[in-house]
Amino acid sequence: MNKKVESEAGTSLAEDTPRLARDYNDLELREIRLNAYPKGWLRNSEVLKLMELARQVDGQDIIEIGSWLGLSTVVLAHYAPLSTIYAVDPHNGWFSNIGEFWTNCRSYPNIVPIVATSKVARSLFDGFGKVGLVFIDGAHDFESAMHDIATYGALLPRLIAMHDVEPECPETGPRRALGMYQAIHPAFWSHPDRVDGLGVIRRLR
Ligand SMILES: C[S@@+](CC[C@H](N)C(=O)[O-])C[C@H]1O[C@@H](n2cnc3c(N)ncnc32)[C@H](O)[C@@H]1O
Repeated sequence: MNKKVESEAGTSLAEDTPRLARDYNDLELREIRLNAYPKGWLRNSEVLKLMELARQVDGQDIIEIGSWLGLSTVVLAHYAPLSTIYAVDPHNGWFSNIGEFWTNCRSYPNIVPIVATSKVARSLFDGFGKVGLVFIDGAHDFESAMHDIATYGALLPRLIAMHDVEPECPETGPRRALGMYQAIHPAFWSHPDRVDGLGVIRRLR
């Protein structure tokens, strides 16, 4: 295990978040003090990409589908301090812990938790004019992933990011949904760009 991770992040990060701890040498990751961050499902490379996306849309609304313990939520809130992060998650799954989610997120006034499924929450966003980013990491079956990208894509965000789209991922729903959605609207959305499991499409018009 990386010595710098041991000394700077403490053992809890190393034990709880092995994927996150892996490339901790990276300077930008040190800057965001990952030791203070919750455990989650993003690799370091994906955290860095999410940081970059958050910075690009700072000031515009961000909708996250699937927050779990709030790792991605906190990264978005930290790097888009002028944005509001609407964090949609029913927090009712097998591993869910809404108390831990809130402990991790409550110091960010720009996080608005919405305890509901993406389907139930969708109508809350009708009329939102300037959505910068929709980040999708909720239910991973194809129908749900397709629902999320199609119905939230209709809000015309500048960017849509979807997690778990790498070919090695055993869950094929997000990858198929992202690819199919972009292929149906090639003049409207850029070809997917991907960093490990994080796929991104940009609105072209
Ligand atoms: C892989 S975890 C999200 C990980 C998180 N983004 C992170 O950075 O660690 C998936 C989350 O999606 C949530 N979820 C499942 N079905 C959902 C749905 N229909 N709408 C919104 N969230 C959902 C689950 O409750 C779970 O917390």
